[in-house]
Amino acid sequence: MKSPQAIYKLFGYIKPHKFTFLTGLFFLLLSSIASLLFPWLVGELVDQANQDISSINKIATLLLILFGAQAIFSYFRIVLFVNVTAKAMAKLRSDSFSNLIKLPVEFFSNRRIGELCSRIASDIEILKNTFTTDFAEFLRQIIMIIGGIALLSITSFKLTLFMLCTLPVIVIIAVIFGRKLRKYAKDVQNIVAESNTIVEETLQAISTIKSFTSELSEIKRYGKKAEAIADMSIKLGKLRAIFASFIIFGIFGSIVAVIWYGTILIQQDNMSIGQLFSFVLYSVFIAASVGGIAELYASIQKAIGATDELLKLQNESPEEISEENTGTSITGNIYFNQVDFSYPSRKNTKVINNLSFEINEGEQVAIVGLSGSGKTTITKLLLRLYDIDNGSITFDKQKIENFSLHELRKQIGIVPQDIVLFATTIKENLLYANKTASEQDIIEAAKKANAHDFIMQFDDGYETVVGERGVEISGGQRQRIAIARAILKNPKILIFDEATSSLDSKSEQLIQESIDLLLKSRTSIIISHRLSTIKNADKIFVIEEGKLIQSGTHEQLMQKSGTYQKLATLQFKE
Ligand SMILES: Nc1ncnc2c1ncn2[C@@H]1O[C@H](COP(=O)(O)OP(=O)(O)OP(=O)(O)O)[C@@H](O)[C@H]1O
Ligand SMILES: [Mg+2]
Repeated sequence: MKSPQAIYKLFGYIKPHKFTFLTGLFFLLLSSIASLLFPWLVGELVDQANQDISSINKIATLLLILFGAQAIFSYFRIVLFVNVTAKAMAKLRSDSFSNLIKLPVEFFSNRRIGELCSRIASDIEILKNTFTTDFAEFLRQIIMIIGGIALLSITSFKLTLFMLCTLPVIVIIAVIFGRKLRKYAKDVQNIVAESNTIVEETLQAISTIKSFTSELSEIKRYGKKAEAIADMSIKLGKLRAIFASFIIFGIFGSIVAVIWYGTILIQQDNMSIGQLFSFVLYSVFIAASVGGIAELYASIQKAIGATDELLKLQNESPEEISEENTGTSITGNIYFNQVDFSYPSRKNTKVINNLSFEINEGEQVAIVGLSGSGKTTITKLLLRLYDIDNGSITFDKQKIENFSLHELRKQIGIVPQDIVLFATTIKENLLYANKTASEQDIIEAAKKANAHDFIMQFDDGYETVVGERGVEISGGQRQRIAIARAILKNPKILIFDEATSSLDSKSEQLIQESIDLLLKSRTSIIISHRLSTIKNADKIFVIEEGKLIQSGTHEQLMQKSGTYQKLATLQFKE
């Protein structure tokens, strides 16, 4: 077993339903006992062959009652186990999701989203199957094997020993053999897949291939794969044939052997015909259970692996997220004091390098700089999506670490560079910023962002579904919805990261006016490559490789020869 801790933790999820679970186990035990009784009763029935009809009927009726009971036990067993598992898995599912979503951004930067999704989707599905069927089956098979052998030993110790030396051994070999076969079959599948890739690649690049006249070499390449498929298939076929012969000879052979030995015992008056009959039935049951248990063991192992992976997520330390108000409000003074920062995935590249600046309440500040200079990173640090390495960031006189994440992020609105809208209605997307906004507030915000008109042009207006399953909207429309969303949040600090970069000059100008109004009453940070949009800023910071290299108003910076002047002359010349 991989990790006992995993199993222990998993059973923690079953614990609240332990009464139901134990009742299920009880029914499992009852139905296993009923299964065990069946071969014995059948043997008894056979032994009644030369008795009167009423005793034959009596045993037949008993058998019918037994099956009736078995049916009822199984019903309850399944219903109870499904019940427990469904509830436990629902809890595990939401626990895993809430763990995941609370992890800091850093965690996600070096993980593959697909992998994380499969944790919550397929891993839990595996566990569900394990708990509803595999686990119960496993226990049932063990009861069948132990109980079966015990009952057999009572009938005939010698024959039991004889049977155990043959049938289960053959079954275990068959299981191992079967697994090997499946591996081979997978190899064949892989080669077939490789050969398909060749077809796909060549057809996709057909013009390139023709222009190089490499048809003949491609044909040769594919031909080789086709031959390999044939070779592997023949090998697999041979193994299959051996397997089939083995099963026929081995399994039936050992059953014949048991019957042969039993018949000798009958001849010596050591056994009745009915006993041999039930003996053979028990032997088949036991053999089936041995085979089943080997398979179940494999799938339970898989489930433990899945649990391990899920638990690894639970061991990560989450961000502290609560919606409580601590009352620490921000007025809008921001200080960066000798801040150093590198991304956790690239620890030896300083993205922010000894950066200091000061933004006062109500100021409009612009950040400019070449692509990759660290502008977006500054906004991420303000939202504390990452922790800084050195220096300090303070709001008013409070260090950023002293705010609860909720309190901090609630007071900062951002229109990010890469806008993501949720696959729902425009209205829902806007409400995301402020759940309590009224219809009136929403329309007003959309109007300010110059988005109302185009939204009304959709058939469903604000109820239009956007994103994956809805209408495709343009980059500029997306930006305007994001701006409306930020307006609706009504934060103390507003950040626009290339918020109007996808807009034509006319739309940009229209929004600019409302943005200017919006910015009047709060601290704002505008990041833009288009200097025309930031000319009126109170302060402009020029960032280069994470360092502040110039600051001042547009007029001041234009008078100094330097980066800003160079950028500006380039742009305004156009
Ligand atoms: N999640 C990340 N992990 C590692 N490195 C990153 C990450 N995000 C950005 N970087 C790197 O940090 C540097 C600064 O990136 P940033 O996004 O802050 O630049 P920017 O000034 O906003 O550029 P642009 O004008 O192109 O948007 C770049 O070198 C970038 O490659
Ligand atoms: Mg950026």
